[in-house]
Amino acid sequence: MNRRQFLKLGAVTSGVFALGGVPRIGERWASAQSVAVPTVDRLVMTNVVDNIYNVFAKGGKLDTITVQRTPLARVGEVPLLAEHGLAYHLESLGGVERREVLLDFALTELNLFHNYRALGVDPTHADALIISHGHRDHYGALPDLARAQQGKFKPDLTLYAGGEDTFCHRVQMMPTGGTLDGGQLDRGPLEARGLRIALAKQPAVVAGHAFTSGQIARTTDFERPPAPARLVAGPMGSVCSPAHFGATKVEAKPGELVADTFQGEHATGYHVKNRGLVVITSCGHAGVINSVRQVQKATGIEKVHAIVGGFHLAPAPDEIVAKTVEAFKAINPDYIIPSHCTGLNTIIAVHRAMPQKLVMPSTGTRVIFGA
Ligand SMILES: [Fe+2]
Ligand SMILES: [Fe+2]
Repeated sequence: MNRRQFLKLGAVTSGVFALGGVPRIGERWASAQSVAVPTVDRLVMTNVVDNIYNVFAKGGKLDTITVQRTPLARVGEVPLLAEHGLAYHLESLGGVERREVLLDFALTELNLFHNYRALGVDPTHADALIISHGHRDHYGALPDLARAQQGKFKPDLTLYAGGEDTFCHRVQMMPTGGTLDGGQLDRGPLEARGLRIALAKQPAVVAGHAFTSGQIARTTDFERPPAPARLVAGPMGSVCSPAHFGATKVEAKPGELVADTFQGEHATGYHVKNRGLVVITSCGHAGVINSVRQVQKATGIEKVHAIVGGFHLAPAPDEIVAKTVEAFKAINPDYIIPSHCTGLNTIIAVHRAMPQKLVMPSTGTRVIFGA
């Protein structure tokens, strides 16, 4: 088997088998199988919601990508809305086939729904949904979207999550003491609205064009999950049992706070013809370098065209930022597109080290990869 051409697909739980449109209802673990890594001719990545909306950001054709910006709305119209949150629309072309994937769902219904309309994104055209992890700045508007589009989505529309903990209660320890409730994405109401949910713990092909990384191996010695992040333990044997939280203590009593290792976080990827991999980390708690390496390993493809997403380095010390930039140099992507929680520290460091690779996104930015 040519490793470059095959993606090893392992278990996809919850009775939904991700590949080939073959649902196996009631089967808890699908047997491992190998499938071809999909290659697309073109990917149009639209940043529907991000932390900033910069009307002065420059667009235009760069060496191998095109960057388009969304200008300020006309007088009397509501402009694009930015917030602490992230949502993407991903449209790909492979031959004559076109696919649309919605990745992450911002913090608020107000911003996501408005920006979908303003950018011409129709959620009923979606071929699949992906949620990167269980933080509300990524899932926030998803319950409202499922409610608003109930009965209008394509049949059997599947939401790909990376693990049980996506649907568990999260809490943040505050530096001033006390905790901030991080909320909980409730799985039941989503399924009641007609969404299928696949736990893609292993790499999975999504809508025939995209793929998810599966749970991300921690291979670097400098990337650590955010120290203040906590999960609320559920009863042993439940889906929010600490047994699903990864390398952490497993004997917590229900209601106790457990260090959050983001076991179920996954990245999204595409392989663009004659370009290489586009890896989207979303929030990057598992580490942007770990995420890229995971996708390289899963696909057997070394060439990285673009690293996109929140890298969650805003709170990181200079030493970690420097190591990340060194690792970026070793990976040598064509472009680095840092959004959301990346942090000015890291953006400046990337700009110093490789200014020609840095592309700053903004709410409403479209990046066209491929032909
Ligand atoms: Fe997050
Ligand atoms: Fe985030």
